[in-house]
Amino acid sequence: MAEAMIEFQNVTKQYQGGQAAVDGLTMSIDKGAITVFVGPSGCGKTTSLRMINRMVEPTSGVITVGGADITSVPAPQLRRSMGYVMQSSGLMPHRSVLDNIATVPRLNGVSKADARKRAQELLDVVGLASSLGKRYPSQLSGGQQQRVGVARALAADPPVLLMDEPFSAVDPVVRDELQQELLRLQRDLAKTIVFVTHDIDEATVLGDKVAVFGLGGKLAQYAAPEEILRAPANDFVASFVGRDRGFRHLGFSPSDGVTIHPVRPVTPEQLRQEGSSGDWRLVVDDALRPLGWAGPGPAGAEPVMVAGGSLFRKGDTLRRALDAALSSPSGFGVAVDDDGRAAGLIAAAEVLAVIESDRNIRHGGL
Ligand SMILES: Nc1ncnc2c1ncn2[C@@H]1O[C@H](COP(=O)(O)OP(=O)(O)OP(=O)(O)O)[C@@H](O)[C@H]1O
Ligand SMILES: [Mg+2]
Repeated sequence: MAEAMIEFQNVTKQYQGGQAAVDGLTMSIDKGAITVFVGPSGCGKTTSLRMINRMVEPTSGVITVGGADITSVPAPQLRRSMGYVMQSSGLMPHRSVLDNIATVPRLNGVSKADARKRAQELLDVVGLASSLGKRYPSQLSGGQQQRVGVARALAADPPVLLMDEPFSAVDPVVRDELQQELLRLQRDLAKTIVFVTHDIDEATVLGDKVAVFGLGGKLAQYAAPEEILRAPANDFVASFVGRDRGFRHLGFSPSDGVTIHPVRPVTPEQLRQEGSSGDWRLVVDDALRPLGWAGPGPAGAEPVMVAGGSLFRKGDTLRRALDAALSSPSGFGVAVDDDGRAAGLIAAAEVLAVIESDRNIRHGGL
């Protein structure tokens, strides 16, 4: 039997005033393996992940890492012993790529020269040209930024890597590449990786084990991917797995019926000047290329940027349209033109309606 690295023992998290975000979670995460948390939005994946490095404290229950209760380790120290890759690459925009990668080793007291040297090596490990080290994050593509995020998480050589939807902001082709890269890396490094995704395909490609979370933060099934596909534990898992399978044919369906709505994006400068508002706003660079979304917030507050989900190009398949809309934090997928400029928005509900009518036609309904 595999050795356990991380254990959740009856862990519950209740945010103030809400339902349980995670409800009585008990599971054991194997050392040196990739464990994937998958499930619909809001089912407690991020909360569960963040409890492992104490970015979120459980309401009740115990979590151990390497056999030790994590509350016995000061939170900052614990956090530095684990790599963390966020959905938005989370890179510091005013620091070079190398300095971004060197952040945690520097915090751990490694000299500047040594930390940079290691950062330079890590560029190679994650498949980036060493010349990119001098650039700033905004001068990299989305996929390159994600690789830098992975390099940064690896920099302190932590035994545990926590990855929260690290590949969801890139297009499906780059995502496949990054997945293969991660598997290749893992063959050499054998870290204990906990990986969050909303995509069952990604979960089954990457996971040695897959944990399917259901609504209300309950663990619905925890098993090897083959078993989850072959023998879903209940209707919820079956529909979650099956729903996505049912969507597979969409990879061949045209997306002609999907309406592209006009969008009024803002530049980071405009966003800073205007502050938060009640709506999600699309943030673009000077060339109109999407940078991410600014979340809604109290008027005047500093807006929070979130990575944007995959992009949709006119002429892409329905599956890509759905992917763009579902992976976007705002519920709107971003359509781009051939030069990658934001051209409009597509709404998740409308994409689903097109899929529904597409299916009715196939099955001779209507
Ligand atoms: N800081 C917070 N305060 C209050 N409620 C929160 C907070 N963070 C998350 N929640 C709630 O807890 C539940 C679980 O959220 P969580 O972010 O863990 O879900 P998730 O599975 O990661 O979702 P997604 O796929 O959308 O990222 C949601 O209902 C969410 O609204
Ligand atoms: Mg999440």
